[in-house]
Amino acid sequence: MAHEIAKLLAARRALSFIEDGMAVGLGTGSTATLFIRELGERVRTGLHVRCIASSKASEELATSLGITLTNFEECPYLDVAVDGADEVAPGLALIKGGGGALLREKIVASAAKKFIVVADKSKVVDHLGGFPVPVEVIQMACPLVMRSLSDLGFEVLPRRTSAGGYYITDEGNFILDCKNGPIADPRMLADKIRAMVGVVEHGLFLGMATVALIADEDQLVERTS
Ligand code: 5RP
Repeated sequence: MAHEIAKLLAARRALSFIEDGMAVGLGTGSTATLFIRELGERVRTGLHVRCIASSKASEELATSLGITLTNFEECPYLDVAVDGADEVAPGLALIKGGGGALLREKIVASAAKKFIVVADKSKVVDHLGGFPVPVEVIQMACPLVMRSLSDLGFEVLPRRTSAGGYYITDEGNFILDCKNGPIADPRMLADKIRAMVGVVEHGLFLGMATVALIADEDQLVERTS
């Protein structure tokens, strides 16, 4: 419950970055969902925004709330993107993808002039790596990429659904959750993972976030790197 209140506080603060006429990127996950709901309320009372969502789930939610959706053909840049995170480390280094949407989330964040992270305080860490790094891979390449990730020292688990099948992303790929404790050099690791053939994207978001709105039940801190 405390986390829920904190998430709502962060989501509400993110609204203060949204101005009439803006193009807005919508994240995925429980905190991003709260933001989308709050944004929907503002749209209902007259705010005009165009949005690009980072998952089918967020797209459906936004549509149900009457939020206008667009795409990168009509709207190549976003003024702001708002999304949650699984870990927030110093320098606003992030792990994302716990909700399986890391690929579109990274695309949306990369197109935004400001990328605003909304999170409760439990997501703040000194070093990335407590949360497994999600890696999105082409299905056919999965065994090869699993071996390469294991060679880097990771314990690699293909993500599964609650029914036991492989989790399939919105883009039709698998996710490998990779755990190896604190990450000494996230940039070097990101480069190594990126270089593996068959990897589509990874959940290390480095040098992307502009500001993190970190909340607990009764206070919110704005972090800028
Ligand atoms: C989804 C994500 C989410 O932003 C991340 O998992 C945080 O989710 P929540 O706000 O539910 O804690 O990266 O792919």
